[in-house]
Amino acid sequence: MANLVATVLEPGAAPVAEGAAAGRARPAGRNPRSAIKKVAFAHPSEEEFARLLDFYQIEWVYEPRSFMLQWEGERVTEMFTPDFYLPALDLYIEMTTLKPGLTSVKNRKVRRLRELYPDVKIKLLARRDYDRLVAKYGHGPLAGAKTEGVGRILFSADQIQMRVRQLAKEVSRDYQGRRILLVGVLRGMLCFMADLMRYLEVPADVDFMALSYYGGENGGEAVRITKDLEMNPSGRHVLLVEDIVDTGMTLTYVLAHLEAYQPASLAVCTLLDKKVRRLTDVPLAYIGFEVPDEFLVGYGLDYREEYRNLPFIALVKQEEKKDETAAPPAARERQKP
Ligand code: IMP
Ligand code: MG
Repeated sequence: MANLVATVLEPGAAPVAEGAAAGRARPAGRNPRSAIKKVAFAHPSEEEFARLLDFYQIEWVYEPRSFMLQWEGERVTEMFTPDFYLPALDLYIEMTTLKPGLTSVKNRKVRRLRELYPDVKIKLLARRDYDRLVAKYGHGPLAGAKTEGVGRILFSADQIQMRVRQLAKEVSRDYQGRRILLVGVLRGMLCFMADLMRYLEVPADVDFMALSYYGGENGGEAVRITKDLEMNPSGRHVLLVEDIVDTGMTLTYVLAHLEAYQPASLAVCTLLDKKVRRLTDVPLAYIGFEVPDEFLVGYGLDYREEYRNLPFIALVKQEEKKDETAAPPAARERQKP
């Protein structure tokens, strides 16, 4: 099992991962499923998360490290083995998707880990956050939740216009004397792109890309570009225009793709930043609004192709679906160090 080969770290040790890789995803050309199959995940949601990371081509290692949290003399009395390590991001992820009762224990362990190993980056992915994350792709217990219409309005049409005009001013100032290539990933940025370009005071070309999405009809095992740019971004000043940055996984992939063309410059302008959900850190040059961890619709954003045409941005009222997977069979649970 993966944690049998885990390296034990003491406080002060360098938090780098080498060796001891239990399930390393996607060395070029290899089937990521094979990496997943080799790992004995403690919970099905961990396997699903690994699949999601594979889809976005984010390398992961399952439980590569155990951290000493408490000891009496030579004897270690408490250890902690985070679920995932993402080498490219130098980030550990602990999923608290098992028994709710374990959550407080994990929270405490994570706090202690942060105290003892201040250089170690760790993110807790709570059950609720995780369910929302995969629901976005049509998986998990919240996926089937019906909407009960549009809830509170977060940004009115006027507020949006005001902010977009300000953003366009900043962009125009920063790109003075240059011609921009605005790139949009279909389809959420539609309204934002259309308004932004009209307020720009510098010349701009526009082009679009489309991606397959996780669990989608043509999703497959890894994210793919289903529609690439028609203009050549090489040597151009590329401004990627996004509706919303959530985990950042889509953006990371798109930026890597665009960077390969060697543009003269590459920056991101996003209308909304759902910062609390970020997994992969991406540099955002322009941000319209920071938003809470809620599902938003309108002004181009959809919930299953619904509500895109609203002129404002609002919360979507989601029916609280009963969570059948909250208590997995005891056999599936494994108390970890
Ligand atoms: P990421 O890869 O997790 O950052 O996902 C970004 C994409 O997810 C966005 O471009 C949107 O298409 C979609 N998305 C994330 N949050 C929302 C939301 O609240 N409403 C609608 N779409 C969203
Ligand atoms: Mg998008």
